[in-house]
Amino acid sequence: MILAIETSCDEVSGALVSEGFKVHKNVIYSSSQKANETGGVVPELAARSAGEMIEYMLTEVIHTQDWDTIKAIAVTTQPGLKGSLLTGIEAGKTLAWIQQKPFIPVHHVFGHMCANIIWSDPHKKRTLPKFPVLVLTVSGGHNDIYLWKNPMEYEKIGTTKDDAGGECFDKCARMLGLGYPGGPALSLLAEKGRSGVYPLPRPLIKRSDYDFSFSGLKTAVLYCINDLKASKKYTDQARADIACEIEHAIGEVLLSKLFSAQEHFGINELHITGGVSANQFLRTEFKKRCTQKQILFRIPEKIEYCTDNGAMIGGAGQILF
Ligand code: KG4
Ligand code: ZN
Repeated sequence: MILAIETSCDEVSGALVSEGFKVHKNVIYSSSQKANETGGVVPELAARSAGEMIEYMLTEVIHTQDWDTIKAIAVTTQPGLKGSLLTGIEAGKTLAWIQQKPFIPVHHVFGHMCANIIWSDPHKKRTLPKFPVLVLTVSGGHNDIYLWKNPMEYEKIGTTKDDAGGECFDKCARMLGLGYPGGPALSLLAEKGRSGVYPLPRPLIKRSDYDFSFSGLKTAVLYCINDLKASKKYTDQARADIACEIEHAIGEVLLSKLFSAQEHFGINELHITGGVSANQFLRTEFKKRCTQKQILFRIPEKIEYCTDNGAMIGGAGQILF
């Protein structure tokens, strides 16, 4: 069993993951309620919350577990908010020292990649993918495409030049008067909307590289809202239509780049992971297109494995161990 700790942002999470990538426990404490009040994550407040929650989270994860069954402690060490990261690192290193276990540092984005190898539902048991695979990692803090060549080796082939997809969701949600995190809130509003009513750009979709840029989309949303407000047409239906169009614009750009990379590299298996992989439009479109093209695909089995969680760090820990 690997004990895993993830505290890179506003979640404090821990997990137990056994050999074969089975998740036995995944406990997530979040301070996103506070972030909702402040309109986003405030690093200092997130760090304080991490300090308050870590002991309770770890007690819940470990309390009945026999230490003899725990072979190593895997912890997210980078990238992320320094104060929050340090809380998890210090807790993990202290436990590793007291219990004389190896300490395994895990890169947060590699952790997200491993969200597609862990499983808890016996009907969805997972093993390692058929390498090489292409992985789109898309969250609030990162938006990349990786060529994952073997369990330990991966190469970044595309990234965002400015905002990540999740950040764009969050900022657009704020413009629409929705809370934080914006992705789930915007997605809920989008259910009542229609795409194409207020056309928005699909940035860089025609470019042949695998890079992204979402800042222009945010600006276009701002102008669209301002114009509607000025002409007194900013109704509830208009808000829903804009939300739907934003969701389609982000989703289409993400998928278009991923599939053109798939064709270019001749890869037969695609993965999506990270907070935005919780988005239903993206999930449905991704599965549909992969099925049409008859290629293998993975997306986290559970929504709790999409956003930050300890279980994915446990999966990464198993590989590194
Ligand atoms: O992976 P994550 O928890 O943290 C980072 O590593 O950044 O991702 C959080 C991001 C937020 O931007 C949030 O708005 C987005 O994932 N997100 C979603 C959905 N659920 C979370 N975006 C779109 N639709 C969702 N359902
Ligand atoms: Zn993350």
